[in-house]
Amino acid sequence: MKYFFTAFCVAAGMLVSAQAETHTEPPLSIVIHGGAGALAPGRYTPEQEAAFHASLNEALDAGYGVLESGGSSVDAVIAAIVVMEDAPMFNAGKGSVFTRDGKNELDASIMNGKTMNAGAVAGVTKVKNPIKLAREVMDNSVHVMFAREGAEEFAKERGLEIVKPKYFKTEHRWESYKRALKKEKANKDAALPHDFKYGTVGAVALDADGNIAAGTSTGGMTLKRYGRVGDAPIIGAGTFADNNSCGVSSTGWGEYFIRLTIARDICAQVEYGGKTVEDAANDVIHNRLKNLGGDGGVIVLGNDGSYAFTFNSKGMFRGVKNATGKKMTAIYGDNAGNEQE
Ligand code: GLY
Repeated sequence: MKYFFTAFCVAAGMLVSAQAETHTEPPLSIVIHGGAGALAPGRYTPEQEAAFHASLNEALDAGYGVLESGGSSVDAVIAAIVVMEDAPMFNAGKGSVFTRDGKNELDASIMNGKTMNAGAVAGVTKVKNPIKLAREVMDNSVHVMFAREGAEEFAKERGLEIVKPKYFKTEHRWESYKRALKKEKANKDAALPHDFKYGTVGAVALDADGNIAAGTSTGGMTLKRYGRVGDAPIIGAGTFADNNSCGVSSTGWGEYFIRLTIARDICAQVEYGGKTVEDAANDVIHNRLKNLGGDGGVIVLGNDGSYAFTFNSKGMFRGVKNATGKKMTAIYGDNAGNEQE
């Protein structure tokens, strides 16, 4: 990919213009998140923190390994998200939070920034890796989103791994569910009476051909009801990718991310407004989302390899690995002492 660099300088009162052709390639890159929320230092033991960092690093290595061996950004996103769906500590795949009826209902989506094709699934209960099903919808159907039993029928047709619903259950989430039910009973009038969780996982990658892909997967919010679907499977809210600007994966209070089409807004500000990914993400998360009363965060990766981790919650599980040699994972808002290079 060619970039033209123009330098202007004023020397001895004269304006000098120098134009040089450079061939700087954007670096192979992957950014990931494992959910945003009330993550303050002290919440986890050192052993638990180490386990989170280890899992984030495993996801980064899986995704970056695909990029390094010449694979596509779509394949890299799938590889990273599958690691986090399979890890019981994240609210996606195994270890998802429970609905009010005591079930696990999973949502996921993926988007290819080269083709602008996308796939999404909502409310699946038996598909081991919902992100793989989202990819099947993208690559092997003319549709963008399948829900519930229909999505599961398609998963069987496509030969994906089907599991019993109890596969997703973990004791830790079951205990949280029971606590949330008790809290709800004690606070009937509160808008959100329970300690619901924002956890979600996501990845955005940039491959050697300059193609961006983004994906997101989640168990949604604790005690969700009536077939509630959050932002994770909504293209433009939870996930967006466009080679002309950037890729985004969101985590947070889904209803706000849907209303604000958070992921699309960030890429539109980059493409139409000429903003950096950092400035665009800051505006959307620290102005628009905050003013509406929502919270959460995003990971953003620009087509030049620039990236941003932006959240208005206390923390966000996150990480980056790229061809400049950067490798980092973090949990809390203040990176001091938490980053692992
Ligand atoms: N952001 C995940 C959800 O609201 O379901």
